[in-house]
Amino acid sequence: MPLHARIQRAIRQLIVDSALDVGKPLPASRALAKSLGVSRDTVESAYSQLHAEGFIERRVGSGSFVSERAQGSLRRGTAQRHRPQRESMRLSQRGAAMYQGGGVRDFLAPRPFAPGVPETRSFPLQTWERLERQVLKEYGTLALAHSPPQGMEPLRRAIADYVNLERGAHATPDRVLVLTSSQQAMTLCATVLLDAGDRIFIEDPVYHGARRAFDAAGLECVPVPLDAHGMRVEHLLNAAQPAKAVFLTPSHQFPTGATLALDRRFAVIEWARRHQAWIIEDDYDSEFHYAGKPTACVQGLDAHDRTIYIGTFTKSLFPGLRIGYMVLPPQLVEPMTVARTLLDGHSAPIPQLTLARFMEGGHFGAHVRTMRGVYAERLDVLVRLVRKHLADVVEPRVPLGGMQMPCVFIRDIPEREAIDAARWAGIDLLGLTALHASSKHKAGFLMGFAAYTRDELEVAVKKLASVLLALGRR
Ligand SMILES: Cc1ncc(COP(=O)(O)O)c(C=O)c1O
Repeated sequence: MPLHARIQRAIRQLIVDSALDVGKPLPASRALAKSLGVSRDTVESAYSQLHAEGFIERRVGSGSFVSERAQGSLRRGTAQRHRPQRESMRLSQRGAAMYQGGGVRDFLAPRPFAPGVPETRSFPLQTWERLERQVLKEYGTLALAHSPPQGMEPLRRAIADYVNLERGAHATPDRVLVLTSSQQAMTLCATVLLDAGDRIFIEDPVYHGARRAFDAAGLECVPVPLDAHGMRVEHLLNAAQPAKAVFLTPSHQFPTGATLALDRRFAVIEWARRHQAWIIEDDYDSEFHYAGKPTACVQGLDAHDRTIYIGTFTKSLFPGLRIGYMVLPPQLVEPMTVARTLLDGHSAPIPQLTLARFMEGGHFGAHVRTMRGVYAERLDVLVRLVRKHLADVVEPRVPLGGMQMPCVFIRDIPEREAIDAARWAGIDLLGLTALHASSKHKAGFLMGFAAYTRDELEVAVKKLASVLLALGRR
């Protein structure tokens, strides 16, 4: 854009934004030219155009002024700029609930101890790249088309094989729905299976992403307490009012790490059968179990098709892949697939086909095995570091699996202040209080360990110790 036009625009914007009021004198063209380092002709040309548009008046001998006529445009201009903003805040009740809930923001540039983040620096990118090239060669421009909304068949097959073999699920490719994430799966469950006002049992504490998806859908979340064996299922059985669904993280409860006991799994299934309710099973990180095999999933035990199994590759591979999935009871496959077409149509075909090959070729299994070893070691390192440097401040609750460790305060340190102070020091912690519905819990935080090397963990624990000890001394 020529210089004179840029100057003209800038002044017009100042007038429209009310930064220059009606009657306000503009600098003399010579003075403005000097201060901007442009020729006087350039400023003259900008002023002439503003004059022609009616934004300024020019009086011989006394200079240029913001014109009276600009007042109307000024009102209009301000109104035009502010109206959309105000209107965009006039949200629906659902929109307001989503907005107020704050959404679920991932830690974009993960720093210790952002939870739930996998190590991606050692990901076998060359293998991935080779498989992606194979896909493009084989499918050619077909890979550029839409994917079926349910997902590409090779990936649905690979997922069904995987969950059957590794998770004890009862899946067939035609019961798998490929999505972008577990988050999307939760939103679909909340909106397709329940109406606003319907009750859903949730764990207390609960994964905030699930809670927010359910709140946003207008569901009434009914928190159910936990113990060392997971959700206390007798609360479901004895509830005065029934609910239409229950949300569970049975293999590795988020955030406590508890495993849901087998008798409780059967009890939940029986409850769901009796009430024709749904079990929403979020199996988000069971690949990383460090003491033997994780327990088989609830879905595989459910002979009555009441369970929706949700899986994700965010943790087992990398968050940028954006592939999650549901294994659905047969009667839900069509309704859920149609509903997903309204959210995002379908998942991108090239990553789906590449992932299918990655799984079929054994690379997925190999990667998970390698990372399991790496994460188990990092957990060990973290436990030792916390016991050494933070022993006076927190008690670690060492998990049997997963990618984060809960720690509870043993000193009277305000959780919020600790988290804020840590953030200033370059450390991310997820507070436990916000995950709880009841106030009967210990304050503390989650420490993600999977994405950080031994040295990174050490530096960060020492830094955290100095932050928390300083707070504890106050
Ligand atoms: C319990 C739980 N479920 C689901 C997810 C999210 O997975 P996705 O990226 O597939 O939405 C997370 C991520 O932190 C999680 O902790």
